[in-house]
Amino acid sequence: MNPDQKHKSDSTGVGSTALIHHDYKAPLGFESPQTPVYKASSVIFPSVAQMQTRNWEDRSAYTYGLHGTPTTFTLESKLALLEGGEQCLLLPSGLSALAAVNAALLSSGDEVLVPDNAYGPLVSMLGGQFKKWGIQSDRYNPLDAQDLACKIKPNTRLVWLEAAGSVTMEFPDLLALLRVCQERGVTTALDNTWGAGLAFQPFELLSSMSSNSVGKGVDISVHALTKYPSGGADLLMGSVITRDHALAKRLSKYHEQFGLGVGANDVESVLKGLQSLVLRYDAQDHVARALARFLQAEPSVAQVLHPALRGSPGHEHWRAVTCSGLRPEGRAAGIFSVIFKPSNSVQAIYAFCERLKLFKLAYSWGGPMSLVMPYELGSMRKGSLNHLEQGHLVRFCIGLESLEDLQADLSRSLLGLSA
Ligand SMILES: Cc1ncc(COP(=O)(O)O)c(C=O)c1O
Repeated sequence: MNPDQKHKSDSTGVGSTALIHHDYKAPLGFESPQTPVYKASSVIFPSVAQMQTRNWEDRSAYTYGLHGTPTTFTLESKLALLEGGEQCLLLPSGLSALAAVNAALLSSGDEVLVPDNAYGPLVSMLGGQFKKWGIQSDRYNPLDAQDLACKIKPNTRLVWLEAAGSVTMEFPDLLALLRVCQERGVTTALDNTWGAGLAFQPFELLSSMSSNSVGKGVDISVHALTKYPSGGADLLMGSVITRDHALAKRLSKYHEQFGLGVGANDVESVLKGLQSLVLRYDAQDHVARALARFLQAEPSVAQVLHPALRGSPGHEHWRAVTCSGLRPEGRAAGIFSVIFKPSNSVQAIYAFCERLKLFKLAYSWGGPMSLVMPYELGSMRKGSLNHLEQGHLVRFCIGLESLEDLQADLSRSLLGLSA
């Protein structure tokens, strides 16, 4: 893996330049800006000796389409570069990437801990199929490292981290949570979909406190490429990135044995999406913060949950890992939630969502179109919701429309709500 230091744009990670000027080599005599789409199940060997000696596991040779093509190896390499890792595996969705980590690292009798605000389907997966396989799971408060410390047991093998958390957007005390896990020798896996490899460097979070390269941050970073890297809201894919070779080997064994391939055309789309990732992430961040502030001043709004807003749960933790001298404003994904005052009925909130013209009612985020979704928190959380105001939660995901148009859409629809 070539870290391509010369194209590092700032202290928080790689910039567009490194993702576009990657060290992919075009076939002799041909050069164009895009990586070619190689499609294959069968890969032809020139000799039996080659067939017997080629090693696809270190990405140095090709044996069968499922084990990689020049196109998938290029995407893996770019994603590892983006997140500051060494090895990358591609999976058919973000959820299957989360499942791969659980399946590769956990055995019957083990326990896994997840933050209380983790992506819901991860919690369901652990309480469903993984429970049937004899693997226990529990939830911890992501804003309280002491709570995590108390919950780690001798059989705890894996701790999931998510920053910011799903839907309620609390930003965990990543540094303290990581230290707790490292002191107890528990493997950490971060769902880094929100940070996208741009808001902070997951493998370098503790770099000022650790001298060995593997102990500087999380052990595993998972990314739903479906969101920002794709950018089109038209495909599903996930990645699992590591720095530690032994961990990577365990993950790639599972990947190989379960035949988790991805389509070449989707890989091509993500490769193209990566070229504008930084520009889109920053543009959506800018508009999201402006709209979050606009909604903070609305009489019908009780609370806006966006980690970059002062007073939002975990704001100081967000500052600690994303703001630096070079980038004092930090970085955040273009997604936030709003709690509307309980003086509004649930039906009034649903009608507000339906009145919006530019914000479409749909799941997901990171695409070109702005999205809105109401959530009922009651059944989604086990721990206390005392840090949240009472009311009805609506999540907004910002697309690539203009700030003025989105604000006008919100203003028009807010007229039906009461203070
Ligand atoms: C934080 C987070 N992680 C993982 C996923 C799963 O990604 P996918 O939809 O590709 O399965 C999602 C999807 O919404 C998500 O929000």
